Amino acid sequence: GYSPSLTPFPSPLPCCKNCFHLGMAFTLQERQILGIHGLLPPKVETQDTQAMRFQNNLKKMTDPLEKYIYLMGIQERNERLFYRVLMEDIEELMPIVYTPTVGLACTQYGHIFRRPKGLFISIRDRGHVRSILDNWPESNVAVIVVTDGERILGLGDLGVYGMGIPVGKLCLYTACAGIRPERCLPVVIDVGTDNETLLHDPLYMGLYQKRDRSQAYDDLIDEFMEAVVEKYGQDTLIQFEDFGNHNAFRFLRKYREKYCTFNDDIQGTASVALAGLLAAQRAVGKPITEHRVLFLGAGEAALGIANLIVMAMTESGVSQDEAQNKIWMYDKYGLLVKVNANQEAFVHDSPGDVQSFLDAVNTIKPTAIIGVAGAGRLFTHDVIKAMGTLNERPIIFALSNPTNKAECTAEDAYKLTDGRCLFASGSPFGPVTLSDGRVLTPGQGNNAYIFPGVALAVIVSGVRHISDTVFLEAAKTLAEQLTDKELAEGRLYPPLSNIREVSVQMAVKVMEYVYAKGMAFRYPEPLDKNGFVRATVWNTQYDSFLPDTYDWPGVNFSPKTKSE
Ligand SMILES: *[C@@H]1O[C@H](CO)[C@@H](O)[C@H](O)[C@H]1NC(C)=O
Repeated sequence: GYSPSLTPFPSPLPCCKNCFHLGMAFTLQERQILGIHGLLPPKVETQDTQAMRFQNNLKKMTDPLEKYIYLMGIQERNERLFYRVLMEDIEELMPIVYTPTVGLACTQYGHIFRRPKGLFISIRDRGHVRSILDNWPESNVAVIVVTDGERILGLGDLGVYGMGIPVGKLCLYTACAGIRPERCLPVVIDVGTDNETLLHDPLYMGLYQKRDRSQAYDDLIDEFMEAVVEKYGQDTLIQFEDFGNHNAFRFLRKYREKYCTFNDDIQGTASVALAGLLAAQRAVGKPITEHRVLFLGAGEAALGIANLIVMAMTESGVSQDEAQNKIWMYDKYGLLVKVNANQEAFVHDSPGDVQSFLDAVNTIKPTAIIGVAGAGRLFTHDVIKAMGTLNERPIIFALSNPTNKAECTAEDAYKLTDGRCLFASGSPFGPVTLSDGRVLTPGQGNNAYIFPGVALAVIVSGVRHISDTVFLEAAKTLAEQLTDKELAEGRLYPPLSNIREVSVQMAVKVMEYVYAKGMAFRYPEPLDKNGFVRATVWNTQYDSFLPDTYDWPGVNFSPKTKSE
C-alpha cells in the first residue's frame, strides 16, 4: 500500500496484529496464524458483505469531503475493498477521489489529516534524496506522480497540502488500469509555499518559508530524477502534476528526452480532446482533414490539442501547412492573425474584420469550436446558434474546468441547436431532455480515459521515451471504442463505468504500436498482447493477496492467483 506504516508487500505475513487489512474477511486459520483470533467478531465475512457495508455508509453521507475522508480511511485499512468499491461505482466516486473533491481536501489537508500517504522530499534534503527513496518500503515502483504543489487544480499554491493530488491520481492508475497499488508512488517536493494563509496556518505541514526559486530548486528536481532512475530503473514512469505553468513546460522540455515522463495537463488533455473530435467526426461523416477548428483560448491546452489535431490530419495525408491552416485561435486579445512575416503555427492572415468571437465564427465558419480559455460562458447563445446555422452537426467542446468555467452548458448547446450538436465538456454535465423527448448524454473529456491506459502500456512494454504519437494512438483507440449506439445517445466517450475495459483495450493497442515502432524495450515481445495485459492487471479479490508459497509449518494457504 501507499502507507509506509503498513507492512510492506510482499511480506510473509499479510498483516500485523493491530492493522486489519482484510478485516472480518480473515479466515479462522489466518486469524490463528496472525494471532488476532478473538480480536474480530466471530463471523468470517465475504468481500461482498464488506462492500455492502461500505457502500451503505457512503450513501448516507451527503458531504463530499466526509465521503473523501471515509474513502481514504478504507484505503488505509483495506486497500482491496477500497478499490473494489471505487471501481464498482467509478462514475460516482471518481469526483470524490479526484477532482473536484480532492481539491477541497487538499486545501484542508493538515486539518483532516489522519496518517501520511506518499513520500515527502524537502529542499533541505538536498544531497540525500536517494536515502529518502530507500526509506520507502516498496522496491518495485513503476509509476511516480510528483508535484511541488504550486498550482493545485485551479486552487493555486497549496505547498505540501498538494499531496492529495498525487495520491488521488495514482488511485485512478490502479482503479482504471489495474496498475498494482504498491507499484505507484506519490511524491511531494517541498520547496516552500508563497501562500500566506498556509504560512500562518499552525496545522500546515511543510516548510514555513517562501518558495525557493533559485538554482537549488532545479538541482533538487535533477537529483530526484536521477535518484528515481538509479533506484527503480530507467523505465520508471514519472508524471509531473500541477507544477506552476512555467516549471511544468520547462521540466517537460528538459526531461522528456532523458526520462520516461509525460505531462497529463498538456498531453493527456490533448489526447482526450482529439478522441472526442474523432468520435464526433464519425457522426458528422466528414474526415478529420475536412474540419475547420476554432479555439477559444490560445494557451498551452489549446496548443497541445491543436498540435495533436495537426498530427492526425497529416497522418491522413494533408501537409503540415495545410493542416495548420485549418486551425484558428481566438484569445482575450482577439483572433490570432499575422502582424509580421514570421509567426507561429496557428497564426494566419487576417480573414477580415473580426471584433468578437461571434464574428470569428461567422467569418471562419468552423465545423468545430473548442473552448479552453477558463474564463466562463463565452460560447454565447448567438455563438451556439451561429454554429447550428453553419453546420448540420456542429461540434462544440466546452473543455474549461470546473463546471462554472465551462464555455457553455450541455443544455444550451443541445437546445439551441435542436439536439444536432456534438458536445463535450471538461467537467461532467448530466443528460439533457429535449422538447421532443429525446435524451442526450454529453461527453465528458476526462483525462482518466487516457493516462491509465497509456501508463499501463508503457509499463508493460518497457517504453523509455513517450512520444506524442503515443497520445495520438491512444486518442484513436479511445474513439474506436465508442459504439454506434453510444454515439447516437450523444456520447463522444464510452461510459465512465466501462473505464477499466477501455483502459485495458487501449493498453493493448498502444502496446502493439510501441512494439511495431521500436519504442518498447521489454523483450521477449509478448505475442499475445491482449492475454499479456489482462494477466498483468491487478484485481481486488482477497485470495491473490496471499504469497505464492508460505513456509509456516503445517499451514496451507490457498494458492495465490498469479497476477504479475
Ligand atoms: C492558499 O491556501 C488556502 C488554504 O489551503 C487555499 O484555500 C487558497 O486557495 C490558497 N491561495 C492561493 C492564492 O494559492
